[in-house]
Amino acid sequence: MAASKVATLGELTDAVPHRVEVDGVPVCLVRFGDEVKAIHDTCSHQEWSLTDGGTVYGNEVECSLHGSAFDLDDGRPSSLPATRPIPTFAVEIDGDAVLLDVHAPTNDAPFPDH
Ligand code: FES
Repeated sequence: MAASKVATLGELTDAVPHRVEVDGVPVCLVRFGDEVKAIHDTCSHQEWSLTDGGTVYGNEVECSLHGSAFDLDDGRPSSLPATRPIPTFAVEIDGDAVLLDVHAPTNDAPFPDH
């Protein structure tokens, strides 16, 4: 499948997790200026939503439930209690449109239940 529009840059605040749902898959978008990164919105520890109170530190988003932080490029946790990565997605910007293909993750992390 091809990338489709999931948001606009104007809807996103810098370094603030923003949830979208793409073909039934919850995705956490994080804007850094003209760039946007995307990671599955479900923590691999206890399936908490990363956008539900999550905080961005550098290139990581920290889960608000128990504090594991996930790299926005490779989905790997840098801190316990989570030990498994979560899927990440390539994002394209076309004008103000934010596009991604949720069926083509950029890592091989399993899709969490949600
Ligand atoms: S549910 Fe995210 S760290 Fe526990």
